[in-house]
Amino acid sequence: MEFFEKSLEIDGKIYGNRGALKNNSTTANWDKSCLPDTIQTFDEYKSLYALSINDPNHFWKMAAERLDWYQVPTKIKNTEFDCRSSRGVEIKWYEDGIINVCYNCLDRHIEKDPKAAKEVAIIFEPDTLTEVRHHITYAELLRAVKKFANVLKKHGIKKGDVVTIYMPMVVETCIALLACARIGAIHSVVFGGFSSNSVAERISDCQSIAVITSDFGVRGGKCTPLKSKIDQALTMEQCKTVKTVLVFRRNQGILPLQDDCVEQRNSLQWTDGTDFWVHEELEKVDDNCEPEPMNAEDPLFILYTSGSTGKPKGILHTTGGYLTYASLTFKYTFAYQPGEIYMCTADVGWITGHSYVLYGPLSNRATTVVFEGIPTYPDVSRFWNIIDKHQINIFYTAPTAIRSLMGHDDSFVTRTSRKSLRLLGTVGEPINPEAWRWYYTVVGNSQCSIVDTWWQTETGGFMITPLPNVWPLEPGSATLPFFGIQTQLLSKDTKQPMQPPAEGALCIRDSWPGQARSLYRNHKRFVEVYFEPYPGYYFSGDGCEIKENGYHWITGRVDDVLVISGHNIGTAEVESALVQHHDVAEAAVVGYPDVIKTQGMYCFVTLKDNVAESDALKRELIKTVRDRIGAHVFPDIIHFAPNLPKTRSGKIMRRILRKIVEPDILNLGDTSTLNDPSVVQELIEKSPRTR
Ligand code: WT7
Repeated sequence: MEFFEKSLEIDGKIYGNRGALKNNSTTANWDKSCLPDTIQTFDEYKSLYALSINDPNHFWKMAAERLDWYQVPTKIKNTEFDCRSSRGVEIKWYEDGIINVCYNCLDRHIEKDPKAAKEVAIIFEPDTLTEVRHHITYAELLRAVKKFANVLKKHGIKKGDVVTIYMPMVVETCIALLACARIGAIHSVVFGGFSSNSVAERISDCQSIAVITSDFGVRGGKCTPLKSKIDQALTMEQCKTVKTVLVFRRNQGILPLQDDCVEQRNSLQWTDGTDFWVHEELEKVDDNCEPEPMNAEDPLFILYTSGSTGKPKGILHTTGGYLTYASLTFKYTFAYQPGEIYMCTADVGWITGHSYVLYGPLSNRATTVVFEGIPTYPDVSRFWNIIDKHQINIFYTAPTAIRSLMGHDDSFVTRTSRKSLRLLGTVGEPINPEAWRWYYTVVGNSQCSIVDTWWQTETGGFMITPLPNVWPLEPGSATLPFFGIQTQLLSKDTKQPMQPPAEGALCIRDSWPGQARSLYRNHKRFVEVYFEPYPGYYFSGDGCEIKENGYHWITGRVDDVLVISGHNIGTAEVESALVQHHDVAEAAVVGYPDVIKTQGMYCFVTLKDNVAESDALKRELIKTVRDRIGAHVFPDIIHFAPNLPKTRSGKIMRRILRKIVEPDILNLGDTSTLNDPSVVQELIEKSPRTR
């Protein structure tokens, strides 16, 4: 790629030295027949990157060889990206390979090295604060998965069947996913915070025949009912495909139950013939269960993601390519070394949980932490206490969590040690430089590299990400593409390719193994959404600026761009400016129609604890934005909002904010996925545009 020809001159230096690895250069003795263990220099990256683009069949063959196949693939890449071609969009990787994902995450480690049996696969950190350490070894996890897989089989669930999983963030959830993978059932995980309506919609779309759930979950000290929501969902006509509901008892015997949980357990409804307690079923099965050999292109899972319009999209991932990609990206981006303890704070209900709590770490024989709770319970030190308690080396979380935690006194962080940390990571939205710096200096004690990973449910794994200490970081930039990923900017107006430096729609030029293959039973919509907007390319839906040095700066969703008086203004840029003000915790910026300027700029601003709202502060914030970005950028309305509408994964729902300020409050659309729907009414009442 052209920008690598220029020298990579950056003012900054490499941030953080702990990420650096001590062993000698890997390409020195690299014989080009298999991938090196780690990437340590920029030259190594450049040469491997060039190979991955010029000879993808060679590169991805080596990547696949990191896994164990029943039949090693000979056909590597067979993909068509062009929606105008006679073949149409079709994506196949490793199509003659035979493999099992669960085997690669568990059995093979023990078969190759008996020591792995006693190594810790999962550390469980319950919501409730406890000194107890819950360690699950690879041998224990394998046995539990085999037994549960036998329960699934006993209930007639077999290869190709779809199973909906609606669980809290506990070890049993991981067991459920791995057991499905073991027998070849397709899992469709629905985040435990979704309403019964949302679950029903997702059950009916994929026609699942069974549901795996739990009596309840516990988050932030509160009981969250799960089984009863499934009961409600299953009363709906469209969910009649479900024949079996397998119910885990939450944390059997681990912790005493709070009163609201006891109540929930005692009030459970039970339908004989449909509902089964997992702990009772487990008594009836043995622990012999051979993994099912799967074709590389057999589906592994479906995961729903919200579209900008219409019903959720059932993103379909398949077996061989997905695991190859999740596994390699985990290894290289976190530079994972044997024995390290890794924690990702995402819920298994999201793609981050699939790829980087479960499949990526376990396929690399890592120790992964499963955290049931929330960052603010019992107080805002929780993450940092967990890091000390389990001596975590690699910590991966979301900018929204970082911003909410940095709004409190630094002493909540500094009273903990965090000495075990080697590497920090973020994902989910652009991280504004101020949050980045706080994460770097306060959390990482100016010692740890940060990997800002850009990717999507649809991409299966990291797409644009630093490799730690291989090249310098710039706060707020996800830096450079991963192996095999060719980014391309296209003009939103002319649809023509643009050469960096430039800003445009972020597209990908060719396929990679981790990519979603389709939307479940809706290939037409898959092509429409991702391949028709820019024919010949995969369209991410994000905007991006690529600078002179090749660094990528994600500017947010393309539809988040404001056009004000002929100037294009990325809302993320304004938000970033606002949160640089010391009184601001979080900001969300949207446009509204304005006859003179095309659009006006409306800023929702959440102030930090104990900061008073005032007109003087509003003026100060407007000045901050103009100073930071330019005098042409002028917030028209500042609206102090103690709470913003967020999805349960913590993303601000700008779609709803746009409707509030338009104003078009009768067409807010689906608000069922909001963490707290009452926030919307508060905002409407206070907005000068709706009053
Ligand atoms: C969208 C995908 C994939 C993990 C979690 C979200 C935004 C994600 C970054 C980042 C800037 C980011 C993009 C993307 N996003 N990571 N590092 N920098 N933006 O998965 O729900 O499928 O959302 O999240 O807008 O398109 P998702």
